[in-house]
Amino acid sequence: MVQISLTVDGDNVTDDVEPRMLLVQYLREKLGKTGTVIGCDTSNCGACTVHLNGRSVKSCNVLAVQADGGEVVTIEGLAATVEGDLHPVQAAFRECHGLQCGFCTPGMIMQAVDLLSENPNPTEEEVREGMEGNLCRCTGYHNIVRSVLTAAGGEQQ
Ligand code: FES
Ligand code: FES
Repeated sequence: MVQISLTVDGDNVTDDVEPRMLLVQYLREKLGKTGTVIGCDTSNCGACTVHLNGRSVKSCNVLAVQADGGEVVTIEGLAATVEGDLHPVQAAFRECHGLQCGFCTPGMIMQAVDLLSENPNPTEEEVREGMEGNLCRCTGYHNIVRSVLTAAGGEQQ
């Protein structure tokens, strides 16, 4: 076992974990952060996306020990990073109906926040490119893209 200490959604946590434990397993099984979901476990779907030290990562593709000393934000802590009940990207997904079953939504939102921090005024093409690592089986992506553009305050489709 290896001891790790990190910040998750603003809380300091220290735990002993197996070196092979994935970050997504640590978040869900040790911390009960089940808002971060597993869609594939093979780094394809993006449902498990969280922020590690300010950048989006697929948490099924990162070991918990790799987050040692770092700062993790999950969908459950995202709203607390801004004023108000919802992060603007969450509000935009709600407003634009950017989800159906909602399974992909935590990852979509975390990826969109990272995308907009890099590029606050993306074009539709840049949104589609920036979100291409996140898969959705329900929506056909149209309202997801519209949500991200709305969050950016940009042109709507
Ligand atoms: Fe991590 Fe699908 S569960 S990318
Ligand atoms: Fe169902 Fe995206 S809303 S997978």
